[in-house]
Amino acid sequence: MKVGGIAYRSVWVDPDDGWSVHIFDQTKLPWSLEILRLTTCDQIAHAIRSMQVRGAPLIGAAAAYGLCLALREDASTDAMERDAAMLAETRPTAINLRWALDRMLIRLRNTGSAGRVATAYAEAAAIADEDATQNEAIGRHGLPLIQEKAAKGQAPRRPVPRGPVNVLTHCNAGWLATVDWGTALAPIYMAHDAGIDIHVWVDETRPRNQGAALTAWELGSHGVKHTVIADNAGGHLMQHGMVDLAIVGTDRVTRAGDVANKIGTYLKALAARDNNVPFWVALPSTTIDWTVADGVLEIPIEERSAAEVTDVTGRMVDGTIATVRVAASGSPAANPAFDVTPARLVTGLITERGRCDASAEGLLGLFPEQRT
Ligand code: MRU
Repeated sequence: MKVGGIAYRSVWVDPDDGWSVHIFDQTKLPWSLEILRLTTCDQIAHAIRSMQVRGAPLIGAAAAYGLCLALREDASTDAMERDAAMLAETRPTAINLRWALDRMLIRLRNTGSAGRVATAYAEAAAIADEDATQNEAIGRHGLPLIQEKAAKGQAPRRPVPRGPVNVLTHCNAGWLATVDWGTALAPIYMAHDAGIDIHVWVDETRPRNQGAALTAWELGSHGVKHTVIADNAGGHLMQHGMVDLAIVGTDRVTRAGDVANKIGTYLKALAARDNNVPFWVALPSTTIDWTVADGVLEIPIEERSAAEVTDVTGRMVDGTIATVRVAASGSPAANPAFDVTPARLVTGLITERGRCDASAEGLLGLFPEQRT
């Protein structure tokens, strides 16, 4: 996607030195656009833990490059296995992290240490390229859902234009969360680019505000109409017919179609079901964990620092960035970072191979190779 007219991905290798890795520091958005140059595996691990890079697919691609940087320092099998295990521990819920590292290891274990660095960079680049391609395909498969809603305004019995298609999204599942395009936002970008009148309700997504900070910044940069709302506003908007459909991303989908995503997603799905609002989840197949059946019981939920709940960071009137405490002093806080929406509350899944029911049969219909 373009920022200031320049096309970027969310992670890339330095074109001049051919090995160091660049990312946007997402903890600095939307106040400033800062590009970091990372030169060690430890720096990549820190970037993932501190959420300078975040979003399930991007974490996977960044970790793959982290392994490349590790191998530059020590390409032995022992070091490679140790560094991959360390990277895999950086965030527990998004399965793309483990998927990307497993793919790297499968390729690298069959490569002698002399050729490992070059092979690793080639494999990491393939992971990044495939993510961008898959997300573009998700956009194409999700676009008809928005086109259908837009077309309803032009029906003969409704001669008055219906106004914009209103889509609600949670957290950030845009290009910042992937290598390019995004998952939930890809159909939205395509609808906007196709001239469809579209407006996005952006959940602020406490505690870290990925919606207010990142999704709003992305949509604004691309010229997509949007409104930031408090997380608790979604149900009210749905009750009043102000949401045509919800599209969210995910960090892990079970083989039965349960969906782990940013905390608060489950409540949005419940409200959507009560108000007959379609609730779609967009994902590349790298986010499916075929080993897990019951998401509520089996998906590990990351517990993050209580400070993310008690404190909020923002820009002061004088332009300085400051962190202030919003909770009563001395009160403890809990911070489960994700929740699981059971498949029964999900209208359907949008993948790079098309749309399907959130069910084992639905997923296997698109990915028959997983039947074995
Ligand atoms: O904690 P985060 O910001 O990494 O959580 C991100 C999300 O929950 C996204 O919705 C998910 O990773 C899908 S990204 C395409």
